[in-house]
Amino acid sequence: MKQIIIYASLHGAAERYAERLAQITGIEAKSFKEVKDIAQFERIIYVGAIYAGGVMGLKKTAQGFRNGQEVFIATVGMTDPTDPVFVSNIRKAIRQFVSADICNDDRIFHLRGAIDYAKLGLGHRILMKLMYSQAMKTPDDQLTAEAKAIKETYGQSVDFVNFDTLQPLVEKL
Ligand SMILES: Cc1cc2nc3c(=O)[nH]c(=O)nc-3n(C[C@H](O)[C@H](O)[C@H](O)COP(=O)(O)O)c2cc1C
Repeated sequence: MKQIIIYASLHGAAERYAERLAQITGIEAKSFKEVKDIAQFERIIYVGAIYAGGVMGLKKTAQGFRNGQEVFIATVGMTDPTDPVFVSNIRKAIRQFVSADICNDDRIFHLRGAIDYAKLGLGHRILMKLMYSQAMKTPDDQLTAEAKAIKETYGQSVDFVNFDTLQPLVEKL
């Protein structure tokens, strides 16, 4: 079976997960920017970083998906991946571009990433500051899981990457 791991990563967390998955499975991992003919693959494992509630590169990559392909998606974000509201929202974002026919809910996984505020570009730094100010004004019991993650990690360098959390995906492959 012709398979590929495609990743979309700005700061390296999604890329690290993809490379580890490549080591475990023997499937080649490539950035979404390098993969040209997506239609040739029978199975695609997409590992994408979450930025502002969307999965990086998915819109572009999904244009190459076709019926009959088996697609797996793993998102990489700072939010607690067990939070049901987060899971529901990110899956809605995925469904804008990927139908359940080629990637049903059982093939979607959520992993935790990393952030180093010292390495953020100016635009992202401003965005995070705005979200942090908003989170600080919100009572703890009303915070979304995203806002909670920002409040807990703002200004720091934190790394929640845990390769053990790839296991459920590895078992499905
Ligand atoms: C501007 C910005 C927006 C982000 N938005 C989200 C988000 O909506 N949900 C989330 O869970 N994580 C969010 N994150 C955290 C990233 O998903 C996390 O840092 C991830 O590890 C990035 O992956 P990468 O290192 O592969 O680029 C955001 C980070 C930045 C800098």
